Amino acid sequence: MARVHNWQIGREMSYWYPQARPKRQFAAIFDTNKCIACQTCTLACKTTWTSGKGQEYMLWNNVESKPFGFYPLGWDLELLQRIDGQNWSKGRYEGRTIFEAAPAGERVLGWRPEEADYAYPNVGEDDCAHGVEKGAHFQGFHEAWFFYLARICNHCTYPACLSSCPRSSIYKRPEDGIVLIDQGRCRGYQECIKACPYKKTFANPMTGTSEKCIGCFPKIEQGLQPQCFVNCIGKIRMAGWISTPDKSRPDNPIDYLVHERKVALPLYPQLGLEPNVYYIPPRHVPLPYLRQMFGPQVEDAIATYRQAPKDPDLAGLLSLFGSTEWIVPRWRRQGNMVMGLREDGREIVRVPLREPSWIVPAVDLKRGAVRTNIP
Ligand code: SF4
Ligand code: SF4
Ligand code: F3S
Repeated sequence: MARVHNWQIGREMSYWYPQARPKRQFAAIFDTNKCIACQTCTLACKTTWTSGKGQEYMLWNNVESKPFGFYPLGWDLELLQRIDGQNWSKGRYEGRTIFEAAPAGERVLGWRPEEADYAYPNVGEDDCAHGVEKGAHFQGFHEAWFFYLARICNHCTYPACLSSCPRSSIYKRPEDGIVLIDQGRCRGYQECIKACPYKKTFANPMTGTSEKCIGCFPKIEQGLQPQCFVNCIGKIRMAGWISTPDKSRPDNPIDYLVHERKVALPLYPQLGLEPNVYYIPPRHVPLPYLRQMFGPQVEDAIATYRQAPKDPDLAGLLSLFGSTEWIVPRWRRQGNMVMGLREDGREIVRVPLREPSWIVPAVDLKRGAVRTNIP
């Protein structure tokens, strides 16, 4: 085991391979407050990449209702207790990662879902925590709550899938950090399925190999955002490049939201993989639930997000989500306009901070016009 630095848990940790960060790292931000679980992302991915035989239960992108939705069943319940997963002290994780908790002779602490665990992708959909009692009504806080968690492969900095494969069939691309399974090398040992705590590698019984989200790398290579991003109806997603915190650039949208404003957080950072999909946490969900999922910074992240209406930079950058198919590596705000820019500063897209609105009266006496059919 090598010693590597994981900034998300604030310390060094053990990993099977030495630290080798890519030239640049693909990353994404999902704003959970905007997701409506329409599953357009799921279908965009499915129709693009996994509509073949043997891929029926393969959801490289899925959207589940928390707290009761999972795909596969219980994916996030298995490990946390076994690693003392809530042991944080001043931003540093003091429990064990899944690499440090690996049993003797194994590289990762993992578990293998049963076949039936993949049978119910919509389990728990729209189920509220605490249920809804008769006569209950909104009183300024949400007693009954749920939220939608969209998930893809995290293209982790320290992928458990990669470290577990005895054939070395999984690799992380040095040019963009995307994690891929070499279909020519894979022999279907399925150690990757056991190892990935997010359960984002899937067995294909027709080919005898495993497959996973490929980060839509043919699009990334052209400077375009992946299919599940550009088809997102709620405009909850932004793809880009993340720096390590010491190299954070405020004009990089991902760095700004993750490192500068700390409003987007990794999913279960305590597992130790340094996942590269970041979530703006839902503002209506009880903090203890969110803390176990996104770590101790969740309270500050929500407080910052709540202030967005009075914070033109933050609100402006959030309104660039879903505004273009291009990856936006730089951004800037000028007055009421927010610009997405190419690396060389050329403009890709501009969005107004506040959309202009006009109130059109139903009865316009000045023009003698009646604009509804029920005046
Ligand atoms: Fe591998 Fe899972 Fe990380 Fe994706 S999320 S890179 S499949 S460990
Ligand atoms: Fe599918 Fe591409 Fe999204 Fe991955 S990035 S889940 S391959 S659409
Ligand atoms: Fe390796 Fe997973 Fe294939 S463990 S051999 S990549 S099924």
